Amino acid sequence: MSALSPALAERLAAAGQEHLIAAVEALGPGGRDRLLADIEGLDLDQVGELVERFCGGRGEAEHAPTEIGPPEAVGIPRDDAQRARDREARAEGEALLRAGRVGCVLLAGGQGTRLGFDGPKGDYPFAPVTGRTLFWHHCAKIAAVRERYGCELPFCVLTSPANDAATRELFAENRDYGLAGGSVRFVVQGTMPAVDAETGRILLEAPDRLALSPDGHGGVLAALRRDGVLEEWAAAGVTTAYTFQVDNPLVRVARPEFLGHHVLAGAEMSTVVVRKVAPEEKMGVVADVDGRTEVVEYSDLPDELAELRDEAGDLALWAGSIAVHAIEVDFIRRITDGPAGLPFHRALKKVPFVGPDGTRVAPEEPNAIKFETFLFDALPEARATSTVEAAREDEFSPIKNARGADSPETARRHLNALYARWLTAAGVEVPTLDGEPVDLEIDPRLALDADQLAARVPPGLSIQGPTAIGPEERG
Ligand code: UD1
Repeated sequence: MSALSPALAERLAAAGQEHLIAAVEALGPGGRDRLLADIEGLDLDQVGELVERFCGGRGEAEHAPTEIGPPEAVGIPRDDAQRARDREARAEGEALLRAGRVGCVLLAGGQGTRLGFDGPKGDYPFAPVTGRTLFWHHCAKIAAVRERYGCELPFCVLTSPANDAATRELFAENRDYGLAGGSVRFVVQGTMPAVDAETGRILLEAPDRLALSPDGHGGVLAALRRDGVLEEWAAAGVTTAYTFQVDNPLVRVARPEFLGHHVLAGAEMSTVVVRKVAPEEKMGVVADVDGRTEVVEYSDLPDELAELRDEAGDLALWAGSIAVHAIEVDFIRRITDGPAGLPFHRALKKVPFVGPDGTRVAPEEPNAIKFETFLFDALPEARATSTVEAAREDEFSPIKNARGADSPETARRHLNALYARWLTAAGVEVPTLDGEPVDLEIDPRLALDADQLAARVPPGLSIQGPTAIGPEERG
């Protein structure tokens, strides 16, 4: 049985975390080992600095920029010149893919608390006809891009200690969702403790466990380097990482136009944006902040800035990030060379905890601060960036909440509408129910976009009701 060493006790006391000494001493042998293991995993100096900066009401105004405006962005092509530029970008992106220079990273380390789904969010069965999951869908897109461009397209999934084992199990049970054996890599991000918002004391989730949660997807860059992925990619000739989030079933994985605009701009990091629909929409905005391109996260954007309108009456900070990035591998290496790492953000949350008398408290108001780093905070470090606008109805409908906006229901409707547009353009009639298209699914391995569907649609396809079309039906 391990005991609390005097040195650790001293460090805890110096860090203002002496309540943890009492918590360890109150436990029997097994519990003591578990709690000590959690405590030993902490960087107490780092936690101390963050508490100093953020707790007791400090750090609120930290991110307030001095000058902020919309970013320079490549818009959705509207005239011949823009369409020609988009075709040029497409050719560049396709060449990059064919040359095997792109690797994909799926960010799936979050807890999906808002959706209230038990287990990794990627296992959420959102598809209305087949009940297929987000992981299934993303992997089918990876397979389809590999096939379309005849490339390896290495694929990496970011997990966190909270969902790593469950995620790997799901991939194993589902035979990597049809991807070639051994072609899925996993990297694990770290955790940070939740602290009491006022006192900065680290909360206990159980008498023998600290309240630890994923430390944000910013850790993905260090994890890619630490686990040797960057080296492997460099050896295989991969120069550009494409990153996307698990919660968006409409995501256009490695869309060549986006990759091509990234290349044409000579960018080290690029972002896909869509127009925000309302000031209060929970999206980070890509903005020009004091002369640099940054994502200002919604939790850091003051209401008066979110509500600002331009002369045409549109939102001034319109460019909502859909959290899709292209990032040069050399750039990842450069920023992970530095000692500083990405900055931490604070998130005020309701975190259940165990009090000093052992009773469990489920707070009704936010009581705790969680610390997270964000991948997009690498943007201001890039020598050149690009921001590329996408049509929201084609690329973005995330599943975040159980009901209302950004829910399984809105994603289902947006997917049905998207597939109905593709089918109609391919000359297939789509029946409606109460004015909306019936439930539809198009397997990404049959078609990744409207053009591919038009070329492959089975002849004489007739849709009578809810329909899932797969690659076996290729005409
Ligand atoms: C996120 C973006 C926001 C963007 C929006 C678009 C962040 C911090 N904010 O908001 O700017 O406009 O998506 O939908 O990303 N994840 C990890 N590790 C973690 C935490 C999250 O891998 O520690 C992953 C999740 O699995 C998910 C994604 O990151 O795929 C988004 O996480 P979430 O916390 O839900 O971000 P949002 O608030 O939705």
